[in-house]
This record gives sequence, structure tokens and C-alpha cells, in this order.
Amino acid sequence: MTQDDSGAIAPARSSAMASRAVAQPSGNARDLSVPALRVHELRKTYDTGVEALKGITLDVQPGDFYALLGPNGAGKSTLIGIVSSLVNKTSGDVRIFGVDLSADRDAAMRLIGLVPQEMNFNFFEKPFDILVNYAGFYGLPRSEAIVRAEEELKRAQLWDKAHSMSRTLSGGMKRRLMIARAMMTRPRLLILDEPTAGVDIEIRRGMWKTLKEINASGTTIILTTHYLEEAENLCRHLAIIDRGTIVEQGPMRALLAKLDVEGFLLDIEGTLPATLPDIEGTALLAADDHTLDLEMPRAMDLNRVFATLDEAGIRVRSMRTKSNRLEELFVRLTGDDAAARREQAA
Ligand SMILES: Nc1ncnc2c1ncn2[C@@H]1O[C@H](COP(=O)(O)OP(=O)(O)O)[C@@H](O)[C@H]1O
Ligand SMILES: [Mg+2]
Repeated sequence: MTQDDSGAIAPARSSAMASRAVAQPSGNARDLSVPALRVHELRKTYDTGVEALKGITLDVQPGDFYALLGPNGAGKSTLIGIVSSLVNKTSGDVRIFGVDLSADRDAAMRLIGLVPQEMNFNFFEKPFDILVNYAGFYGLPRSEAIVRAEEELKRAQLWDKAHSMSRTLSGGMKRRLMIARAMMTRPRLLILDEPTAGVDIEIRRGMWKTLKEINASGTTIILTTHYLEEAENLCRHLAIIDRGTIVEQGPMRALLAKLDVEGFLLDIEGTLPATLPDIEGTALLAADDHTLDLEMPRAMDLNRVFATLDEAGIRVRSMRTKSNRLEELFVRLTGDDAAARREQAA
């Protein structure tokens, strides 16, 4: 077994590696000049002729929390699959902390931890054993694996379940177990494919907390999601991917700032009149008898809106921002049918 100074370890399956001096990546996690992930002109055409990736280029910086956001069928899993060596690329380059995936797959793989979308652990094993055995597969000494398993189970708030049959864990616990397992090899880059797909909001929030802690402790995280709220909550940078193409990428904040339309929900005192005033440049609708749905250009003065409502005898008690800014952005970037496709996928 091999273990470099970062604590990353070699998969046991690559027996050749144990006897071979593995070149250190040309940068480490502290070297900000080397991206954690560099993908250049990546293409994938499946045997069926489906062009899943049509030339993807992106950089993820060390320490970042990065989202690949896109609807079903966009190509997210294909991209993750190529980066984690589960899928063969058609053309293009992938580098992980400077290590070329084609040239030195084993060294690149030692830097990655993968949490696949489907649960793929044995439900009849105990969490502690699942973690220790996984680390053993990757060549970690058992004594070290035992120490790490305790650490990771505690971080995942699963320590009290360490010796329970994992079948008896709740859905949220099972997902946290998947993350804890991936962390056993101390990856510098943790990649999660739709980690919260289909889980309820309570569980999702718990997982967000875990992932934020992992990121705060220095691990670069990339996740795919079709939950816009998730990307907005977690990620500092993102790429929006649709039909095998990146339609937008950059800092989350900059993307949100691009939106020139803002949406508000206004809580009204009493009941709304039958006819609503016409306010030029805005879209005003009754969400229900006591709530107005307002959409207006970001640059527009809210006072004008309030003055007009006041004249019409409508008094606003409170207002909330509609939490769908990213949704709007997404629809705008990928076309209306993306929303419909996402609906179908949900
Ligand atoms: N193994 C495969 N063989 C053929 N086509 C595939 C395979 N996997 C995915 N695809 C196709 O590639 C496209 C992208 O799929 P995928 O990467 O799974 O998207 P996402 O993860 O964003 O939902 C889709 O059209 C999908 O049907
Ligand atoms: Mg997928």
C-alpha cells in the first residue's frame, strides 16, 4: 500500500503502484495555481450515438464548492463518470490537481472521493465495517482505518449507529454513510452525483451541513444537482449544463446578479380588490385573496409600486422575496423547455 503525505492512499487494485514511485502531483491542495479539476474540451459520444458531452471546458479551484447544475439528461453524470474514471471519454483532457487522468489514472484517482447517486453498500453490513473494509480496499492499514472510521462516523453523526445493521438506518443516515465512506481515503476532491435527489428537505439540510463542514476543513467539493436551491445554498461557483454544453459558468453571485427581474410576494391587509392596478413595467397578479405576486425590473423603484398600490387602497403588511431567482436564471439560459423537462424529471 502507498500513502503520500496528504494522507491520500492508493487503491489496492492498482498493485503495480505499490512498487512504483508515483510522481507527486505537480501541485498540492495549498498550491492555488493548480486547479483541483481542469476539464478541457471534453467530449463523449456513447456507442448509441448520443452526444452526451459536446466540448466541456471548466476549472474548479482548490477549496471551492462547485455545482454542476442542470436538468435530467444534461450530461452531469457522464462528466462525473469520466472524471472518476468510470466512463471513457471520447476526446478532451481531464486533470486532477495537475495530474493528467489519461497519463496517470491511479495517481489521479487517489485524489478523488466519489459519492455515486445510487446507494451501493451492503445493507447487511454495519457502518463501522463498511468504512474499515472500504479503506482496506484502498490499501489503508487496518489500525489507521479504525481510527478514521470513528472520526468519519462521528462527523457524519452516525457514531451511535456504528455497529447497527446499516439496513436499519434512515434514508438520511444512509446517505451520510456514503459520504463518510468516501471521506475514508481523505480525498482532496470530493465528488457527489445528486447527493440529495429525492430526499426530503429536513434530510437535505442535514446533508448540506455535513458537506459545508467537509468543505470548510479544506476538501474541494463538486456536486451535481438539479435542485437550484441546493446550488444556491452550498456553492461558490457553478456551471450550468444543458444538453452536453455549458450554458453559463462563474461565481454564484455573479450569475444571480445577471438577473434583472426580481420577484416578490406581498402580504396584503384585508382582501384584495377585484381589479388590480396596472403598474407599468411590472407583472402584478393575485396569488390568493391576501397575497400579491409582483415581478419587476431590478432597477425599478419599489416606492413607485407602493405608491400606486396605496392609491388603489391596497395596504402591504409585509413582503418576501420569491426564492426562485436561480430558477428564472436557469429557464432564461436554457430555454423554456428546460423547466418542462425538469418538471418531468422531478
Ligand atoms: N451508458 C449510456 N449509454 C448511452 N447513452 C447514455 C448512457 N448514459 C447516459 N446516456 C445519455 O447521455 C445523456 C446524458 O446523460 P447523463 O450524463 O446521465 O445526464 P444527467 O446526469 O445530467 O442526467 C442522456 O441523453 C443519456 O440518455
Ligand atoms: Mg445523472
